[in-house]
Amino acid sequence: NAPVVTIDGPSGSGKGTLCQMLALKLGWHLLDSGALYRLTGMAADRHGVSLEDEAAVAALASALDVEFLPGEQGQPSRVILEGDDVSGELRTETTGNLASRVAVLPAVRQALLQRQRDFACAPGLIADGRDMGTVVFPEAPVKVYLTASAEERAQRRYKQLKEKGNDVNLATLLEEIQLRDRRDSEREHAPLKPADDAIVVDSSGLDIDQVFARVLDEVSA
Ligand code: CDP
Repeated sequence: NAPVVTIDGPSGSGKGTLCQMLALKLGWHLLDSGALYRLTGMAADRHGVSLEDEAAVAALASALDVEFLPGEQGQPSRVILEGDDVSGELRTETTGNLASRVAVLPAVRQALLQRQRDFACAPGLIADGRDMGTVVFPEAPVKVYLTASAEERAQRRYKQLKEKGNDVNLATLLEEIQLRDRRDSEREHAPLKPADDAIVVDSSGLDIDQVFARVLDEVSA
């Protein structure tokens, strides 16, 4: 059984960057579980499957035809869905909203469970998500719950999108984050909350290097 470190938390808490840094530093595998929910939402969209049709969306989730390609020569990694490069579309706000809507469906969460567990192999796994410590890897020896105020998370996302040349509005982003938070934490099945044995890290006012150092301490302890 390979060691697993779970990093859970709300949208925009900096989990993604932190997990990439940890995986690189330790030479471990990385599970971006949000990408699986995003891909399921995209697959439903592509196949014209209604998000109301839980069984049909779950069937798409089980059969997801996806390849994660590592970036070559300093290029970013790529994601291939049904033969198409969807790396760009995967990270958009539209896709994020689709993801949070399919994520409320218990049959979809169940369909993705084993696929997520299969990522745990030697030498170890960094698992990024909402329910990594509570549901998917309850036995993980190190669990982190990374959070920050909604305002700070909206600010960060604003900067990120702006840097990529997107036309964005801070107030809209804040509303989207708050809506996503509500959907994630109020859903009946696997709601977003820290595992009982998680270390809670509030990254408001910390930069990513400070968060990284803090979490690496826990992992090495
Ligand atoms: O970066 P951001 O938080 O916006 O997105 P993400 O981590 O890719 O997750 C997208 C959506 O998938 C979230 O809003 C959650 O509703 C859902 N999700 C989940 O329910 N469980 C997970 N383990 C990961 C993501």
